[in-house]
Amino acid sequence: MTATIVVGISYGKEILNMEDEYIHLVQTALEGIIQTKRPGAFWMDYFPILKHIPAWVPGATGRKLAERYVPVVRAMRDQPFYSAKDDVSLITTLVFFLAMALRPDVQKKAQAELDNVLGPGKLPTFEDRESLPYVEAIILESIRWMPAVPLGVSHRVLVEDEYKGYRIPKGSIIIPNSWAMLHNAEDYPSPEEFNPDRFIANGALDPDVLDPSLIAFGFGRRVCPGRYLAKDILYLTVASILYVYDIFPAADKMGNPVKLSSEQKTGFLS
Ligand code: HEM
Repeated sequence: MTATIVVGISYGKEILNMEDEYIHLVQTALEGIIQTKRPGAFWMDYFPILKHIPAWVPGATGRKLAERYVPVVRAMRDQPFYSAKDDVSLITTLVFFLAMALRPDVQKKAQAELDNVLGPGKLPTFEDRESLPYVEAIILESIRWMPAVPLGVSHRVLVEDEYKGYRIPKGSIIIPNSWAMLHNAEDYPSPEEFNPDRFIANGALDPDVLDPSLIAFGFGRRVCPGRYLAKDILYLTVASILYVYDIFPAADKMGNPVKLSSEQKTGFLS
């Protein structure tokens, strides 16, 4: 339970049982820590130069243990981070599928645009992108409606600052409530509704509507460097899938459509 809570809150990863690969990694890393963290257990602790002796030299126990456990300890630290990072792109694709299954009218409208621009028998390419504003609006709305990282990533203030009369002392940790910004009714009226039309004016993308990418991908110097790639992948995914397929809710055993819900779980990732 402890592992489930810690890893779940930090990385949004669900651990179902003790056989989980990550639990195994943690146990092996701990075994390494138990074997090596005895103060003064190795000559290397007194004479750091000994760390250059290769592991095959008899007596180089510390070096042998290091070669065995260091990769495991690093994997324990990095693996959930990288798997969470991989999940981030995927989340918006899943949000898109959910929205389409809930909103057949939106789907039909996008398919009409695709049929109109592409004609039959040609998959969409980047050259078609500017002629497909409604497809682009679906991507923006998928990014906004259920942001992949609802509370963004925390940043530390390097110099004292002030915002609307509030003093923000140097060193404060700022948690950006991206979800609230993307559900601000002043920028996005009826924010709970999946409505790509909010981004369209006179048949084109409306430049006066706040671009949700400016919020959903983070802020400042550490803003997501993968944002252009993510939006390109989303474009190819959304345009190609809508051009070729219809998306429906899954059917239950009796053949009736499963009732879909658009609730989000709490956690670092949606
Ligand atoms: C829809 C897809 C994605 C969303 C919503 C997203 C969102 C975010 C957010 C909110 C941050 C934190 C920014 C901050 O500190 O304020 C971030 C950081 C980062 N993202 Fe993404 N991301 C996405 C896709 C990607 C992709 C495809 C890649 C890689 C190809 C990527 C690579 C990174 C990296 C390396 C960082 C850390 C940057 C740093 O701290 O210097 N992201 N992302």
